[in-house]
Amino acid sequence: MELYLDTANVEEIKEIATWGVLSGVTTNPTLVAREGRDFEEVIAEICDIVGGPVSAEAVSTDTEGMLEEARRSSEWHRNVVVKIPMIPAGLAAVSILEKEGIRCNVTLVFSTNQGLLAAEAGASFVSPFVGRLDDTGKDGMQVVAELSEIFDIYGFDTRIIAASIRHPTHVTEAALAGADIATVPYKVVKKMVGHPLTDRGLERFLADWEGFSGSKSR
Ligand code: E4P
Repeated sequence: MELYLDTANVEEIKEIATWGVLSGVTTNPTLVAREGRDFEEVIAEICDIVGGPVSAEAVSTDTEGMLEEARRSSEWHRNVVVKIPMIPAGLAAVSILEKEGIRCNVTLVFSTNQGLLAAEAGASFVSPFVGRLDDTGKDGMQVVAELSEIFDIYGFDTRIIAASIRHPTHVTEAALAGADIATVPYKVVKKMVGHPLTDRGLERFLADWEGFSGSKSR
């Protein structure tokens, strides 16, 4: 499973990119608005850092508007993937854009059938929102698992991005459920890397080493 960062913050992306674990980035209008920067400028900068797919969301709700936005943003960089909302006008846009070679990530997917429709329309990526579904009392990861099974049975090329990830356990569960990608907020990636026993173990190793090299020099 690949890891994407779910952020529009360039500093966060730069930091995690140095770890060699980052395969892409997803943004959404909320994340971009939080940065208070020009949309095109921030997406182009992220593309230069990452070297993998970078999702930039269309905000039109009609097919023509989505097509226009998608064609424009796909010119910004070859790695731009256009995020299209899971609505009928969105499916229509996806089926046209993918034929033009513009990759789409169908977003705001909350059911297996929505994900199936996105795949039928030819989407390159589909993003089930796990955390937001969990919030409603449903098991969000079940949608990921069902889509993974269905795509395997029927040979869909659509890649599943487990989105709306809230904690490190979601990431493990997404991998076990067959997600191709988990898009993870910065604070969750930071939690994934740490463990108190790692810190304690390292502290002990360094203290023992210091004592040993001290005794050698005496
Ligand atoms: C996915 O691409 C979305 O940007 C994101 O995962 C939404 O997550 P949220 O529920 O934390 O806003």
